[in-house]
Parts: sequence; structure tokens; C-alpha cells
Amino acid sequence: MNMMPFPDLVRVDARDKVRGAVAFGADDARPELAHGAFAVATIGKGRLLALDVAAAEAVDGVRLVLTHENIGTVKSAGFVMGGGYGFQSHIPLLAPEIAYRGEPIALVIADTLETAIHAASLVRATYEEASFAVTLDAPGVEVIDQAQTPLAHFIPPVSVGDADAAFAAAPVKIDARFSSAPQHQNPIELLSTVAEWRDGRLVIHEGTQNAEAVRHGVATALGIASDIVDVISPFVGGGFGQKNSMQGPTVLAAEAARRIGQPVKIVVPRAQVYHVGSFRPANRHHVRLGADRSGRMVAAIHEVQAQTSRHDLFPGEYATTSSRLYGIADFRGKDELMRTDAQTPGYMRAPFEHMACFAFESCVDELAYALGIDPVELRLANDTQVDAVTGKPLSSRHVGECLRRGAAMFGWDRRRVPAASMRADDGSLLGWGVAIGTYAGLRAPAMARLTLAADGTVVVGVGIHEMGQGARTALAAVLARKLGIAPEKVAAVIGDTRAAPQHLTAGSWGTATAIPVVEAAADALLAELAALSSGGPSNKDPAQILREAGRTELTVEVGGKAPGQPDAIYDRLKAGLPSMGGPVYPDFVTYSYIAHFVEVRVEATTRRVRVPRVVSVADCGRVISPRTAASQVRGGVVWGIGAALREASEVDSRYGGFLNADLAEYALPVNADIGTIEVAFVDEPDTRFNSAGVKGLGEVSMVGVAAAIANAVHHATGKRLRDLPIRIEDVL
Ligand code: MOS
Repeated sequence: MNMMPFPDLVRVDARDKVRGAVAFGADDARPELAHGAFAVATIGKGRLLALDVAAAEAVDGVRLVLTHENIGTVKSAGFVMGGGYGFQSHIPLLAPEIAYRGEPIALVIADTLETAIHAASLVRATYEEASFAVTLDAPGVEVIDQAQTPLAHFIPPVSVGDADAAFAAAPVKIDARFSSAPQHQNPIELLSTVAEWRDGRLVIHEGTQNAEAVRHGVATALGIASDIVDVISPFVGGGFGQKNSMQGPTVLAAEAARRIGQPVKIVVPRAQVYHVGSFRPANRHHVRLGADRSGRMVAAIHEVQAQTSRHDLFPGEYATTSSRLYGIADFRGKDELMRTDAQTPGYMRAPFEHMACFAFESCVDELAYALGIDPVELRLANDTQVDAVTGKPLSSRHVGECLRRGAAMFGWDRRRVPAASMRADDGSLLGWGVAIGTYAGLRAPAMARLTLAADGTVVVGVGIHEMGQGARTALAAVLARKLGIAPEKVAAVIGDTRAAPQHLTAGSWGTATAIPVVEAAADALLAELAALSSGGPSNKDPAQILREAGRTELTVEVGGKAPGQPDAIYDRLKAGLPSMGGPVYPDFVTYSYIAHFVEVRVEATTRRVRVPRVVSVADCGRVISPRTAASQVRGGVVWGIGAALREASEVDSRYGGFLNADLAEYALPVNADIGTIEVAFVDEPDTRFNSAGVKGLGEVSMVGVAAAIANAVHHATGKRLRDLPIRIEDVL
């Protein structure tokens, strides 16, 4: 196989995107569309005693008001981590019970969006209120040991050796607690759906990371056959986990469209997305890390409590990540889930890894100071090529190279070790921090269909969704190289259930899922072309061979799955159920890695924390699309800056819900907050993991950033800050 580095291909859909030529789910503006708007619950928990929709129904142009009283037989499609299809098991409007503030209680469908919004504001509810708990320490929170739930079957608690005894015996100990506020994903594209019944089929246009789950979930909820449902999602305007399974409004749009016999569009406004969609749960950590005096980490205990809802158990996988950072022989993890009165939290970029590594890598920095060892050297001294949890070999691990290269690029050797010992020219306190991150190497099954036409175009249909990460560019890059054609000749039909089964694209497994299968399909196509041109090596271009053979087109289909998966996995794939494998495979374990080096400046008077400079070096296996890969890392670093210094979904225990539910009040880093972000890749193919040698990148990009920032803030100020986000008042 050609393992030469890939060229710096420009993003193949960049031109269409900047011209607005790309159609997102809500871009449909046909006059025959009816529009939906929700009325939402204004209590923290309870039940509807009465719902008066007469005034809403009386508004000219209102076509339908859906409530629990007329919703009929629509039912839950289940929770995605419980064998179902929804981000939560709870679909609004199915019952009078109110699970949390902001839950929709009525859906108004009208001829115009303005009419729908106005009429929804006229819905009057009478409630019976119940007490509720929305913070981790509130009375009434139920604490559940994840190990005692069915989740333990696929997320077993980490337990290697005797961590408690080893920690007790360790000569050097770090013992610290960490926390993060809940956060929301905030993709620019809101949750939005156009649902249309046409010739006996239900067609759904929606930005989603999981078209197949939307298809099967809506079919389940409406009680119809999934084979009459098409879900079309060629572009997603940001997912970040929020769009990784079926959303309640999608079901309600389809039901409303069925009733009025007209296509229905619902765009959930930002403030409602904060309660209708998922979020990163509040979570807190207790880490104990023990080492010997030479700097060998000998024991660690990582205990986590994370928020879930009353109606679903959103799993925690925190210690599964921190236990993979180093070769620590004795490690114990514990995940507890805290039932609160909120919607079910969900996967938000690096859902567990970000906070697990923030907590653990902060402790590693503290250990470096306790031992008087350079933080980079301490990490290198605890590197491993064996997975400490299973004892299996790692298919590839180049985090040492990430650290060494990053240190050189950053100029780490110029760092003065004592805290608060460096100053910038403008008098700011200067701090330099480092941390590493890791993320599981996962792979889902996929089917690829490749069609070569006589005009030289190649159409690839495969299961992957383009949410900005560069899926089309990566597909074009591999097919151009394999087939010796121009990247412009490749057209990808993705995010479309009509083209190929569309497994959830998440968990940074998109490339490792689609690329090996598409490369195998290209090999199959080349083999058929060789047969057509009566064998022998050929330097003709593929279309020429096709034309000379008198054929108008040639199609091949190839499937692929994770190592060790049974053939029955393809049935799960087609059923829209999560089917990924890894990171533990029969013969090896796969993780991606990254090292981040961060400079912070803390202004001497205001104590404002700035991040002018970041160097990040990633080990994501072979880099298929250098430009979009580097963009992924920059985006991850920006997100890490947001997570460390800005983002918090504010909760008030008196009211429930989330208070700062808009982009003005939910603080995010803006362009002026971002300095230089230098990105480099080890670019070593991992061909044990898959034939293309690729590992995941999207999420590992942000893992460790927050720790590197907090470590840099400590270096600048001498303060250890363990609760995110870090605010000005914390560094006063
Ligand atoms: Mo991502 S948070 O795995 O969709």
C-alpha cells in the first residue's frame, strides 16, 4: 500500500459552503411548508392539570396544536444507550408529566413561522408542581453505582491490581478533587427538521450524525415500517454529539406532517435547544495518584460522579480513559450516576475524556512539582507500549514522540521551573503548561458502494456524516490516490439512508470506519477494471478502460467491520443501532494520543487569563486529509480553551432548567480570544488497527487542553485550580 504522506488537499466542499450552495436541513423554504413552534413547561417538575389551547387554535393560519391530549399512539423510541434510538427515552407531549423545566408541552403548526410562534405563546397551562433537584448536592438526587447497572456489561469498571493498597504504600501521594459545570454543545445549525410524506414514504431532511437511528427511531415512535422512511442529511452544521441520535421534535414533525398532509418544518430556537437536546453533564472527580521517589507512577484511584436524568442512565466512562494515559499497574475506577430532574445528558465532544484527563493530568503536574521532575520528563518516564488495563499490546502509541516534538516546537527548555517566576513584556504573569490526552480507537461497520461512470466520475455511497470534520475531503483524497483520478471527480453520497446504512458518526471513528472500506472498494473496482482490460498492469485511466470495454458504468460493493466483530454486526448496523467495536480488540488495544503545550498570560491588574500560544502534536495514525485534520485539532484546542476558561450552563436550584440559554449569556471563546495554535502530526500509520492505518482525531484534539491551561495557570500564579471553568475571581 502507498503509505506516502497525503498531499494538502483543499476542503472539497469549501467553495460550496462559503457560497451558501450547500443545503442544510432547514434551508428548505418552499411555500407549501407548514411551520412548528413549541410551548414549553415553566415549572421544574410536576404534571399538567389543564392545558388550554383554544386561543392558540383560534389564531388565523394555525393548522394543528399537538399536545398529550391528542398525540394518540406515538410512543417512545427508547434511549440510545438502552437499546433504543433517542438521545433520551422521553419524548415530549406523550404524557401530562413534566420531567424538567423547558420540556415542550404543545407543538403549534401554522402556515407561517410567525403565526406558530405567536400561537404557541397563547397556550396556557395549569400545573401541579413537584419538588425537583438539578444540582449534584440537592436533596432528592439519587446516586447510582454504575457497576450495579446493566451498563456494567459494556462499560465494566476499571480494576487492575490492588490500587488502594498500592496507593497506601506509595511514598509520594497526590489527592485532589475536580469539577465541571454542565455545558452545552451549541452547534451553529440548530436542531431542525423538515418532514414530508410523499407517495407513501416519509422523507426527513435533518442535520444529524445518525441518519439510520433517526429512520428507525421515527418508525418505532410512529408505529410504521422503517423501510418507508428516508433520512437525508448530506451536511450537518455542527454536531459535537448533540445530533448523535433521534430527537423528540423529529418525531413530532413527522406526526404533524402526517396529520395535516403537508410538509412540516421545525427549527428549535437556541433557548429551547438547551432543554430539548442533550448537554455535557455536571461532573466531579476524586483522583488519588501515588508514585515512588524516582517518578514511577505506581497507583491511581479515579472516582467520578456525573449527572444523569431520572428517566435514563447516561453512562460514565471517565476512568476507562485516565487508566490509559500511562502504564500504571494498580488502577481502580468508579463511576456513580446522579439522577437529577433534567433532560438526559449526552455525548459532547470528548464526553468523558476531556474531564477525565483534566483531573488526571492536573494531578500529574502536581506530582511533577512534588518530585522536582520536569513535567515532560515525568510523562516520558511513565510511557508504555502495553495497555495497563488488559495487558494487551497497543496497536500504536506515539505519545512520547508527541511530547518530544511538541516540547521542541514550543521551546519548553526555556521554561523556568518555579511557579510565578516568569513575566511577559507587558508585566503579565507568564505560565507554560503541558498535558497529554488520549481517546479510544473505535471502528463501526460500514458498507461502501462505488460506481465508476464512463465520464470518469466516481460516486461513493458509504456510512459517514459530514458535520464539518472533512469527511468528503478524506473520501476524495483516498479515492483520487487509489484510482489515479482528480479529487473533483469524486462525489460522495453520505448521511443518506438511501445510499448505504448510516451508522452513527461519533466517537472519532468516522475515518477508521469509512476509509478502510472505501479503499477496499477501490481495490475491488481496480480488480474488475483489470479483468475488463483483459488483465495485466494498466496505466490507462479507469474511465478509458470502461469505455473501451463498451460499458457505461461499473459498481462494486464492499463491507468492513472492526476486528473481532461477528458478521451479525451488519444486521445491527442496518437496524440503526450503535455497532462500534473497540478500543479493546482480540489481539490489541487502540488509542489516539496528543500532547498540548500552552502559554497563558494572566494580566497583572485584571487577572484576565489569556491563551496566546498553543502547540499540539497528535498521534492519530495516518493523516488522510492534512488540512481538515489540522482544522480539527485547532477546533479541539479552541473548545478546550472554552471548556477551561468560559463555558458553563448556569443552573439555579430554585427554578430548574438552564438559565443562560443563548449565545450572549453562554460565554464561548471568540476569535479575539484565540492566538496561535501550531499543529503537527506524528503521521505514523497504524496498520494493525485497520488497513488504512488511520486512528481517530476529532475528540482527542481537545483532550488535555484544559489540563495544560490549568497547569500553565499554576505555573503563572502558583494557584492550583480544579473547578472548571476557571474564572477571573479564581486567580485574584
Ligand atoms: Mo461525539 S461527542 O462522540 O458525537
